[in-house]
Order: sequence, then C-alpha cells, then structure tokens
Amino acid sequence: MIKIAPSILSADFSRLGEEVRRIEDAGADWVHVDVMDGNFVPNITIGPVVIGHVRSCCSLPFDVHLMIAAPERFVGAFSEAGADIITVHVESTGALEATLRHIRSLGKKVGLSLNPATPFSAVVPHMGLIDLLLIMTVQPGFAGQQFMHEVLPKIAEARKYVDDQGLGVEIEVDGGINKATGRLAVRSGATILAAGSALFSAGDLKAEIADWKRLR
Ligand code: DX5
Ligand code: ZN
Repeated sequence: MIKIAPSILSADFSRLGEEVRRIEDAGADWVHVDVMDGNFVPNITIGPVVIGHVRSCCSLPFDVHLMIAAPERFVGAFSEAGADIITVHVESTGALEATLRHIRSLGKKVGLSLNPATPFSAVVPHMGLIDLLLIMTVQPGFAGQQFMHEVLPKIAEARKYVDDQGLGVEIEVDGGINKATGRLAVRSGATILAAGSALFSAGDLKAEIADWKRLR
C-alpha cells in the first residue's frame, strides 16, 4: 500500500493548523515537514517552535525532514516538538551514526536522506540503523522543481537491497512528485510519496490522495 505524505512547504502558512487538519481529513498518511536552515540548503523554513504549535492540530505522524547542517544539535528539540520520524541527510553531518542512534534512543523512527548526486553506496553502511530511506528526486531547498528521472535507478537499487537483505526499511521519494512521476517512483520501488506543489494545487485533495494511493 502506498503512503502519501503531503509537504506543508506548499501549504498556506498563515493557516497552518487548518492545513494539517485538512491533510488529515483528506486521507493522507503522514505530514511531511521540510526544515531548512539557509546553510545546508539555500532556503529557510520552519523550526521546532512552529512544529510544536501545529502538532496538536492533527493526529497523523509528523515526518520531519531535516535539511540542516549538523542536525545532531537539534534532534532533541524536534523530538520534543512532536516529530514522529526524524530524517537527517547523509551529507549533513560527520557524526551520522551517533545521530541516528540518538534519534532511536528518543523513541522516534529513524530516517536517512540522500541528495540526487549522492550514490546509494553512501547510505549502505547505515541501512541497519534506519526505518526510512528518503531519496531526494530534486536538489533539496525549494518546492516546485522538476522530478529528476536520473534518480530512478537509485530507487530500484535501494529497493533491491532492502528486499535482498530482508530489512524493514521503507523507501520514500521527495521532490517533483505528481501522479505521473509518483507512478515511476512506485514502479522503481518507493512506497511513500512526499509531495507539495502537486497535491496542494489539486482542486480536490481527498480525491487526489485516493488516486495516488492506488498507483501501481
Ligand atoms: C525539497 C523538499 C520537498 C519539496 C516537495 O527540498 O524536501 O519536500 O518541498 O515539494 P514539491 O513536491 O513541490 O517538489
Ligand atoms: Zn522534504
């Protein structure tokens, strides 16, 4: 079954509480939260304070995607703010393994993400420590970019590895996902689709999510 994780980066930030409620009512599985620091990526979004406030507005798991340098400094704060899944980038810290173990020790699901240019081999040593692999299909930093088709073989490589090793790691894709590119990602082995622009520009969010969940 495909899970859908709308990214609130494309929501109306002046009504964020209502927006996450709308995501829940529309049948989404997770709320995808894009955290950017103007350092690891050239954009700044939201931090633990905002997440803490909107957390109480819905009961879906919060899938918090940290696009920040040295994320080990803030894992505790995002955990306290109510993140359920905390994902860090393999490119973002020299203390990766300790950071992944710290997330686990806080009782949270452990996610690891990689940029389009980073090969799957970079995350292989850590696959036994994680619950979620978040494969970027755009360069992180901004919503509304074009899906990078050249990442599809990496999704397939990750799917084969997870299946061959019998791991319980879920594979999520993020960036430029719409119904067409989502289908390609699912066929390559992704089971979770994070998406901002395509979902929030849909007239009927509920119908759109239901449609995407049936992708095969
Ligand atoms: C990219 C973010 C994504 C992005 C998704 O840096 O991690 O979650 O906002 O937005 P769309 O679906 O518009 O590419
Ligand atoms: Zn994201």
